[in-house]
Amino acid sequence: MDRPQPEVLISADELDARVSALADDISRAFEGVEIVAMPLLKGAFVFAADLLRRIRGGVSVEFLGVSSYGEATESSGEVRLTLDAAAPLAGRHVLIVEDIVDTGLTLAYIQKLVSSRDPASVRTVVLLDKPSRRQTDVELTWVGFTIPDRFVFGYGLDGPGGLCRNLPDIVAHPSESDE
Ligand code: XMP
Ligand code: MG
Repeated sequence: MDRPQPEVLISADELDARVSALADDISRAFEGVEIVAMPLLKGAFVFAADLLRRIRGGVSVEFLGVSSYGEATESSGEVRLTLDAAAPLAGRHVLIVEDIVDTGLTLAYIQKLVSSRDPASVRTVVLLDKPSRRQTDVELTWVGFTIPDRFVFGYGLDGPGGLCRNLPDIVAHPSESDE
């Protein structure tokens, strides 16, 4: 109850403008080419819904369910696939859509998994990048925002108790040590 109000780090308006710019860049890069967008659930669902509707050209969607944290906010390094793509990726141009990259372990695992299925190309768009905690090299083709090492939520990312994915802004608790 006496918990401080979340601080807005990136407002809905800023998200809206940046997502449009990313969609323009992606549309240009894939001009004349059909893509398979692969949002990682759950966190990327809001970002993907906004982004994909602004990409021009042929887009199909295959969801991947990924769980790396369990109940903790620290990455365990162990990635669990909770949902796999329904369609083959061989010969197709894949766009991995992720909400946030922290240690990089989740994305490294997914990029390796996708690449092993013989796609024509694999590119990655990530809304938020926290480079300060990287443990492994990952190639990010497009990044929305680079952010400091704080635990953030909203716009699809879950906050305390698994709540707050529905908030329109990216927020963080102000004076929290961010576990
Ligand atoms: P790694 O460490 O594997 O983590 O790059 C990527 C996944 O961890 C989650 N994550 C967060 N989720 N607020 C969240 O709600 C955060 O600040 C945060 N940092 C990492 C996220 O699920 C991402 O896919
Ligand atoms: Mg995630």
